Amino acid sequence: MFRTTVFVTGGAGYVGSHTILVLLNAGYEVVAIDNFVNAIPGKDGSIPESLHRVQELTGKSLTFYKMDLLDKESLESIFSKHKLECVIHFAALKSVGESCQIPLDYYRNNIGGTINLVEVMKKFGVKNIIFSSSATVYGAPQYLPLDEKHPVGTSCTNPYGRTKYFIEEILKDVASAEKGWKVILLRYFNPVGAHESGKIGEDPQGIPNNLMPYISQVAVKRRPELQVFGNDFNTPDGTGMRDYIHVMDLAEGHVAVLKNLDAMKTCVAYNLGTGHGYTVLQVIKAFEEATGVKIPYTVVGRRIGDLGSLYADSSLAEKELDWKAKKSLVEMCADTWRWQSQNPMGFRGEIAAIQNS
Ligand code: WQD
Repeated sequence: MFRTTVFVTGGAGYVGSHTILVLLNAGYEVVAIDNFVNAIPGKDGSIPESLHRVQELTGKSLTFYKMDLLDKESLESIFSKHKLECVIHFAALKSVGESCQIPLDYYRNNIGGTINLVEVMKKFGVKNIIFSSSATVYGAPQYLPLDEKHPVGTSCTNPYGRTKYFIEEILKDVASAEKGWKVILLRYFNPVGAHESGKIGEDPQGIPNNLMPYISQVAVKRRPELQVFGNDFNTPDGTGMRDYIHVMDLAEGHVAVLKNLDAMKTCVAYNLGTGHGYTVLQVIKAFEEATGVKIPYTVVGRRIGDLGSLYADSSLAEKELDWKAKKSLVEMCADTWRWQSQNPMGFRGEIAAIQNS
């Protein structure tokens, strides 16, 4: 059955906005919400700049509401106004470091918000949910590549990762308690890159926690140099190894789930990665080759909680979703650079220019 209307939480964000672009191009209707905690309002202030550009890129419109999942009343009114077939749940606070400083905010926002969402879904008979989970639920790997049989939760290293694990367990319990639910847990590895237009991309507010946005901000001279967190890991060059996946491949993975939803099991987890690990120094080299821009860096001590190597076995998604990540690391770097070089200050740059004009 063709699922027509998808409800997207956290739609203004990096993965959310790219997924909405692919949904609209695939013919889905989209109702999106965001609380703007990590997004920039658009020119007219009503829709986030990232989604304003998604509408321009696709030539299609979406319905957007600025709201927070902790506001259950507003959530109910949206579900009463729209016939929603499926929910894609991105909305979450997602900084590993920050979660260690303010764990209660992370538990309230990520878990409390999800409980509100699922209770309202239940009330309106919407029983299909795709959850934006993370490889972080695996904690320290007992073996590599990581497959979905690997234990989860036991060694999560931070409150953010624990919220992802707890939410997976909550959704599993809901699916086993009541007939008719479809719960799909998508465990992202390391999303990077941007839409080929360079009009949308990753736009972290403040100092980037993650490697690729930090590199791209060094490349546009917003940051003097990259700090490489440790070179004494058990990897080819000693620096940390991760499974980077292009955000467009990730977005396509969500649409692949929607297309296969009717045939899917009640509750299932899929790793969305490429199966290839690249070290920090290999990413720097790929970025320099793809862009011609030199990235100065200094090797410093390890970041607390960092693991050495993490990469996916995504064969289950490839088999059951008929989906496979296609884009190379060089494409991820080139697309990142096109976005960052055209938007040195991210979405804020455009808004500031308009406000100052
Ligand atoms: C990648 C590699 C760092 C920054 C985190 C979250 C995970 C997911 C993805 C949401 C590591 C090194 C980084 C820098 C560096 N997020 N690095 N200098 O830590 O694998 O995962 O983001 O779901 O849940 O845990 O990604 O990009 O932060 O780090 O050397 O300035 O780059 O040590 O080896 P990570 P990352």
